[in-house]
Amino acid sequence: MAEEMRVLLPQENENLTDLQSYINAGGYKALEKARSTDRLSLIEEVKKSGLRGRGGAGFNAGMKWQFSYSVETEPKYVVCNADEGEPGTYKDRVLMQTVPHRILEGMAICGYAIGARQGYIYCRGEYPFVVETLNQAIKEAKDSGVLGDFDIEVRMGAGAYVCGEESALIESIEGHRGEPRFKPPFPPVKGLWGQPTIVNNVETLAYIPLIVEKGADWFKSIGAPSYPGTKLLTLTGDVVERKIIEVPTNVTIRQVIYDYGKGIRDGKKFKAVQIGGTSGGFIPEELLDTAIDFDSMSAIGATLGSGAVFVMDETRDIVDVVERITKFFEHESCGKCIPCREGTKRMHEMMERINHGKGSGDDLGKLERLGTVMSRACLCGLGQAAPAPVLTTLGHFREEYQAKLN
Ligand SMILES: Cc1cc2nc3c(=O)[nH]c(=O)nc-3n(C[C@H](O)[C@H](O)[C@H](O)COP(=O)(O)O)c2cc1C
Repeated sequence: MAEEMRVLLPQENENLTDLQSYINAGGYKALEKARSTDRLSLIEEVKKSGLRGRGGAGFNAGMKWQFSYSVETEPKYVVCNADEGEPGTYKDRVLMQTVPHRILEGMAICGYAIGARQGYIYCRGEYPFVVETLNQAIKEAKDSGVLGDFDIEVRMGAGAYVCGEESALIESIEGHRGEPRFKPPFPPVKGLWGQPTIVNNVETLAYIPLIVEKGADWFKSIGAPSYPGTKLLTLTGDVVERKIIEVPTNVTIRQVIYDYGKGIRDGKKFKAVQIGGTSGGFIPEELLDTAIDFDSMSAIGATLGSGAVFVMDETRDIVDVVERITKFFEHESCGKCIPCREGTKRMHEMMERINHGKGSGDDLGKLERLGTVMSRACLCGLGQAAPAPVLTTLGHFREEYQAKLN
């Protein structure tokens, strides 16, 4: 039976929310250590740890920092992406509520490394209670002086999924409509107000103090070599135990569902699991022995994404589930680029037709062609990834579509 491994989350009965408890547990020592290290060596250590972004794209965190470090323009910014708009994902909320100071410390270390004095936490609008916790933690940290000359402010989103995309998020902080930018230039070089900006996910930043304190080799020794560390996963759907877990990245999907989640509810059989949120691919039974790390998941055409694990039992109607997902994307498309604005709409129309018994034989081919075009032509990850549930279910569960065609 696979065991949970708590590195980021507090141990059971451990309270690290307030500053004093966090300091008593060794908190803010890493920031002190970082500040007595030369900035490039610090970045090298983060690079060496192999820490890859936990927000979905899996980019090497230290390498990203180096891009900003290398640009001489000032001021620079650190942005903590706490938008967490991915349905079924609530891991960042739990981190912000339980270890807010670890996130602030991670941001301050990043600020020191790249030469930034200002940080922003962009928190999803549906989390006003989390904003209170964050503001309280920021106040405590500022009053006590632990952050030194690094300042942090919270900005709230207004409920748009696309605002989790880093450049749309930056636009939103600047007070504009949350629409993605054309890239390059990428934010580490030209981000907030045109200045070098590191956008990192909450979970990514929360690892930083631990890596600085315990060293890159410690971090690298956990989980899969190409995506080391632990990963927070949120189990939802038809699994016995719906909960948040923290596991090493080399555990398999089967272990996640059957060991940690205790299997399928009500004695039913497994049908599919979607990992990484709405834009994640659907995974059938025969691929359950795949490890959850970023590269293993990509190799089977799936994603680890934000770590949402949505389990479906044998009674779930796959076509119906996918239709709902395409509706979500149609609603959330910001409309800036045509392949996404039109594509998400047409994709939903076709899925609706098929789901309600009005689809024809060539609709499946059309869906595949549209999905392929969108994944290549859309401006940002929203439209690029939106077809994944459609394409993967057409691959693994095609007979369910065929059964609904007239
Ligand atoms: C539509 C869309 C929504 C996203 N939402 C989030 C989000 O809620 N939180 C997040 O950290 N990253 C999100 N991302 C990924 C970010 O663009 C970016 O890759 C990430 O914040 C970088 O941080 P990391 O390197 O620490 O993962 C989203 C991307 C897209 C395309």
